[in-house]
Amino acid sequence: MKEQMQKKLLSSAEMAMKNSYSPYSGFAVGSAVLCEDGKVFCGTNVENASYGLTICAERVAIFNAVSSGCRRIDAIAVVAKGVAFPCGACLQVIAEFTDENADIIVKNISSGKIIIKKLKELLPEAFKLKDKNEE
Ligand code: THU
Repeated sequence: MKEQMQKKLLSSAEMAMKNSYSPYSGFAVGSAVLCEDGKVFCGTNVENASYGLTICAERVAIFNAVSSGCRRIDAIAVVAKGVAFPCGACLQVIAEFTDENADIIVKNISSGKIIIKKLKELLPEAFKLKDKNEE
């Protein structure tokens, strides 16, 4: 991925993080996805007094993209004041709309450190309803 696009995704995720609704954990997360047509969609975590209803920033960003018609995502950025790799549930949702070589870009905004992984490294065996290699 071009460095310029990586920067755009990370800055979009940081802007979204400012809108985090996280009064229970105090852990704000921002995310941005890059769709195949070049559009970028953002999301932040939204918590709830009924804790289990909380939704992660990544899923909000993806559902936002899908709601606007996007079906293919090439990359996703996640930012927090700490290292926040997507949780297992979010990885499965990412797998729905990407291929295994999608870039997952994680930035710790406290240290400035950026880590880039492929989806297949974080979720090597994503669940698929139908496996093309298996009858
Ligand atoms: N969270 C995310 O938004 N993304 C992640 O990748 C991990 C966790 C949120 C959920 C909750 O609001 C807070 O971080 C603490 O778990």
